[in-house]
Amino acid sequence: MQDLTFDLFDAPDLKAEAQALREKLERWNYEYYVLDAPSVPDSEYDKAFTRLSEIEALHPELKTPDSPTQRVGGEARSDLAKVTHARPMLSIHTETDFTGEGAKAFDERVRRALGVEAVSYDCELKFDGLAVNLRYEKGILVSAATRGDGFVGEDVTDNVRTIRTIPLKVEGLPEIFEVRGEVIMHKADFARLNAEQRALGEKQFVNPRNAAAGCLRQLDSKITAKRRLSFYAYALGETSSEVANSQSEMLDFLVGKGFPVARERTVVTSWQALEAFHRHVSDIRETLPFEIDGVVYKVDDYALQSALGFVSREPRWACAHKYPPQEAMTVLEDIEVQVGRTGKLTPVARLKPVFVGGVTVSNATLHNEDFVREIGLKIGDTVVVRRAGDVIPEIVRVIENMRPDSARDFVMPATCPVCGSATFRDEEEKDTRCTGGLFCPAQRAGALTHFASRLAMNIDGMGDKVVAALIDAKLVSTPADFYRLTREDFERLEHFAQKSAQNMVDAIQKSKATTLSRFIYALGIRHVGEATARDLATHFGDLEPLRNATVEDLMRVPDIGEVSAASITSFFAESHNASVIDALIYLGVHWEKVERQEGSLTGKTFVLTGTLANFSREEMKAKLLAKGAKVAGSVSRKTDFVIAGTDAGSKLAKAQELGVPVIGEDEALDMLNN
Ligand code: IVH
Repeated sequence: MQDLTFDLFDAPDLKAEAQALREKLERWNYEYYVLDAPSVPDSEYDKAFTRLSEIEALHPELKTPDSPTQRVGGEARSDLAKVTHARPMLSIHTETDFTGEGAKAFDERVRRALGVEAVSYDCELKFDGLAVNLRYEKGILVSAATRGDGFVGEDVTDNVRTIRTIPLKVEGLPEIFEVRGEVIMHKADFARLNAEQRALGEKQFVNPRNAAAGCLRQLDSKITAKRRLSFYAYALGETSSEVANSQSEMLDFLVGKGFPVARERTVVTSWQALEAFHRHVSDIRETLPFEIDGVVYKVDDYALQSALGFVSREPRWACAHKYPPQEAMTVLEDIEVQVGRTGKLTPVARLKPVFVGGVTVSNATLHNEDFVREIGLKIGDTVVVRRAGDVIPEIVRVIENMRPDSARDFVMPATCPVCGSATFRDEEEKDTRCTGGLFCPAQRAGALTHFASRLAMNIDGMGDKVVAALIDAKLVSTPADFYRLTREDFERLEHFAQKSAQNMVDAIQKSKATTLSRFIYALGIRHVGEATARDLATHFGDLEPLRNATVEDLMRVPDIGEVSAASITSFFAESHNASVIDALIYLGVHWEKVERQEGSLTGKTFVLTGTLANFSREEMKAKLLAKGAKVAGSVSRKTDFVIAGTDAGSKLAKAQELGVPVIGEDEALDMLNN
């Protein structure tokens, strides 16, 4: 085979080719993952990768530990080997004071110990992940280990090689060079991983830190390769020669060598500036792609670091300044249901008050019924509450093994807790709503403003401010009340004079003569916009048939699906709405019955088949109906024309069999336009 000739004659060339491919792939990898600026399409990368894999498969001796092919994971292991760190991996002192005092105390300690007026500090993020030590020998990544107890960690080399932002080979490093930093999982990668786990019915990870730990300590590095981990460098371990004189210079050096270093860092010279950094990072924290739990201050100058030395195992030259924890445990005492302005019912958790994210929290949103079910929540449960930034507090998980026997399930109420109308589950939006749109106090302001709006009943001057004033004055609670208002009522409101009050009453009276479609739209039925209201008016001709329509009747109207049909029937089924509608009619709201339209195609029956080029069949049907034509579902001797698009099937055959004229889309349009 050809392979033999490779072996005999081309091996040196293959070696060079493999080397060139490796360099190219790693450069592209760096551009893609670290710089976020790929210079070649993925296909190009894949091609080079495949070629390199082929060479390595044929010539295992050409495989190197820095080869990008090692990033996809290797053989699974039965345990992780122990690694003794060449230099112990230390921890840092944590300031427990979350306020500026924390920064001030650190700066004072440092300056007192050094006996100086001012010190430069390097400020960094405190990543919430796992510390690892990466060992490079002659520029090649040869080993990676977790922190462990600080002296002995675990060998995670295979897994670390799968982290795309970690360079496997670096030019111009000291012979021995250890880089330390944090392995973390970006929030987006975490969300994706958990979505996958959910889909597979597997256990979900509690937070990105946990997920990162699980993936980093995986025995099967192929799994790690699939779950995207990230790395950020912040320190050195053993090095055979110095590369910098300060922490900030060292980080610059690492950036220059292609190591990922977080951009959020700065050098400052006062505790006020340390505090400002702490506050700034707190402000941008939620926008970072990963989680942090604080910031770290380090005396920048290496000579000063040495002078300061260590107390027990903590350097005196560094400190972590944390943020208040964003998660805390508490008890779910009850679930109440709130009704929003649009009628949406939201379950709200009533919690035993707990200090989290810097404030005392006693309520948390539960979004909807599905959310409660998904997290497996019962009333009485012990839960983890999270409050991140200014975001509304959330329950993130249930501690199931702390569930008391008295714990009970939450059930979405069948009637609105505000107005007592029946509730309705909107399958499309996955939420539950009050059907008493015209009556429910929670929806009052929105419903009344909508009712009066220009495309609805068009009551001139009745905007949200006037509606709010009328509600405050207890003059209106349902749309019917508009038609009972007198000039004197308006005069009692602020900003109304005799003239303007009379104008309002006139506008209301004028709105009584309306159209059926406006009236339907004004009712504010969920999923019934202006266009749907018009379709309903044309189809049913009057309100009574619409009020009595079943879901099946409604689904015969073009563009009305199951969800809107269900929403319409439950709206009219609610007796509170029925009374308001009756009152509106009693008070004089009226419209012309919608007559079937007479048009140029009255008396003609059409059948549509196949795919039309410029319209959907529904659109074409609407056009034909508007001209008075009938549109039937099947071809018979009574059919006048079949309009056939592409891929027309049995209906076309039937038309030909019966001798019914078949026309195309263009001819149909000519007929419509003549
Ligand atoms: S420096 C001698 N810098 O915090 C100082 N550590 O309690 C060595 N950490 O185990 C650590 N972000 O996991 C340093 N920018 C940062 C850090 C950081 C997070 C973690 C690290 C370490 C722990 C110290």
